[in-house]
Amino acid sequence: MSSSATLNRAARVLALITPRDPAGTVLRRELTARRDLAPAERRAIVRTVMVYFRWLGWLDSAVSAQRRIAAALELQTRFEASPTAIKPEALAARAVPGWLAAEMETIPAAWLKSLQCDPALWIRVRRAFVESVPRELGDCSAASWTSTFDLRLPNAFRYNGPRDLFLTEAFQQGRFEIQDLASQLVGCACDPHPGETWWDACAGEGGKLLHLADLMQNKGLIWASDRSARRLQILKKRAARASVFNFRAVPWNGGPQPPTKTRFDGILVDAPCSGVGTWQRHPHARWTVSPADVRELAAVQRQLLDRVAGSLKPGGRLVYSVCTLTRSETTGVVAGFSAAHPELQPAAVFPAAGRPLPEMPAQTQNQGHAPASPDLAVLTSVTLWPQQLNANGMFIAAWKRR
Ligand SMILES: C[S@@+](CC[C@H](N)C(=O)[O-])C[C@H]1O[C@@H](n2cnc3c(N)ncnc32)[C@H](O)[C@@H]1O
Repeated sequence: MSSSATLNRAARVLALITPRDPAGTVLRRELTARRDLAPAERRAIVRTVMVYFRWLGWLDSAVSAQRRIAAALELQTRFEASPTAIKPEALAARAVPGWLAAEMETIPAAWLKSLQCDPALWIRVRRAFVESVPRELGDCSAASWTSTFDLRLPNAFRYNGPRDLFLTEAFQQGRFEIQDLASQLVGCACDPHPGETWWDACAGEGGKLLHLADLMQNKGLIWASDRSARRLQILKKRAARASVFNFRAVPWNGGPQPPTKTRFDGILVDAPCSGVGTWQRHPHARWTVSPADVRELAAVQRQLLDRVAGSLKPGGRLVYSVCTLTRSETTGVVAGFSAAHPELQPAAVFPAAGRPLPEMPAQTQNQGHAPASPDLAVLTSVTLWPQQLNANGMFIAAWKRR
């Protein structure tokens, strides 16, 4: 139950949020400026703002912000007490924008439900600390994906406790990272080996790069490029904290010249995208992304893939990932790119996956890049659905240079 002080603080934050100044940015800025607030109060403000955007489609814009926030909190409580209290048709009409229907083959009711729940918090523990960190943090449970498919994720844990993980000694000493399970599955899809040379072409702040380095046991080299110099600076700090040194960070904006003449064993294009797969964690984004953004991003994604393709060694592996679920940015990009690059052959997304385990739900979908198959080991593109993983939605495709 939120206090009236929380409601007022949340209302002040809401007044500052705009499409250009999104909820996450405003919350970070405002809460950093309010060091006097107790951690529980900070969490309550963040949650109140998130709940507001989750239920925005139900709210009456004519009433005060405080009344709208109270109405959103009430809807959340009702939904948590009985998830069937909100009809699937209402969720389809109000939890997501109308334009989405034209961009998805189906909008699963279970996905819509998952959008209205609090997201799970996932961590990736470095190989060397996989025994000690979960014990030290407490409240950790191992990833459940392995109970669906025989795909080992020994480093992924869900954190269920109340602590601010950024403040823990284990985090500050780089023994684990906060990384969504779906993002960790992108690292598994890359499947890099020690001693190889990789290019993380949209490395950003380095979430996936740190995972690749750990999988490579810090042996070999990773080129990390991004158009944002600021993000690469953050990547360098994170890498130092995690004792990752086998990388080279270079600015690259997706232009026709790759940053190096090196030919790679593997390239990851973790492309900028509309982020529909993160709408549970970032509900404000449901109301700011537009179909025009999706079209523009699909063109950027295709261009990035076109421009890295020539840098693969024969036999090299190309992995494309986007944390979105729109047709244009997933199967649309993949179909166009595959047709234009006969030198690349679609390859299994999870080469290390074993056969599906017997109780596997027939939900993980291939959206047409290869025949739909329940066998994860042969899929050449995969949609990871939030409602299956309790994590972000992600689309991953892979190719091998002939
Ligand atoms: C999904 S984020 C990458 C996240 C990162 N791989 C991680 O795991 O932390 C996409 C990145 O693409 C970068 N980007 C956007 N447009 C680009 C372009 N035209 N060329 C290169 N990078 C671009 C953004 O700056 C952003 O860091």
